[in-house]
Amino acid sequence: MKICLVYWSGTGNTEKMAELIAKGARLAGAEVSVINTDAARPGDMSGYDVIALGSPALGDEDIEESEMSPFVTSVIPLLAEKHAALFGSCGWGDGEWLRSWASRLEASSVHTEDCLAVKETPEGAEADKCAEFGKRLAGK
Ligand SMILES: Cc1cc2nc3c(=O)[nH]c(=O)nc-3n(C[C@H](O)[C@H](O)[C@H](O)COP(=O)(O)O)c2cc1C
Repeated sequence: MKICLVYWSGTGNTEKMAELIAKGARLAGAEVSVINTDAARPGDMSGYDVIALGSPALGDEDIEESEMSPFVTSVIPLLAEKHAALFGSCGWGDGEWLRSWASRLEASSVHTEDCLAVKETPEGAEADKCAEFGKRLAGK
């Protein structure tokens, strides 16, 4: 099982989620790559079974728009053939940005039943949820 986690993070919370998810997935036996959007190339994604995208809630319940949003657009055709998952950190919201993101993908026939949101820095029970999420992705 090969998993690629592509994330954007401004203050490190979504990055920490990616690290915790990767740890959980590796413990479950998966081979995991963790890539920042500034180094992610859509053409490098074809060898993975699972592609999980991570962005914090920004703007008004939106994903990061200068790197993650164009990356999403460029990988949509590939995501339709893979298992896709979404994750990210938010602040005051109730996870609306993640639901909107999943709807955007759904409109292009990309199903993302695995979505994980945490508030700010993942710690304690929320850190455990990240590791569990990774374990779940490794079982796809
Ligand atoms: C410019 C800006 C806009 C934000 N907009 C939202 C928002 O719409 N909803 C929300 O729940 N949190 C919002 N937040 C809070 C961030 O999503 C939150 O701090 C998150 O943990 C940042 O993750 P990161 O460390 O990976 O960048 C916003 C933060 C910033 C700086």
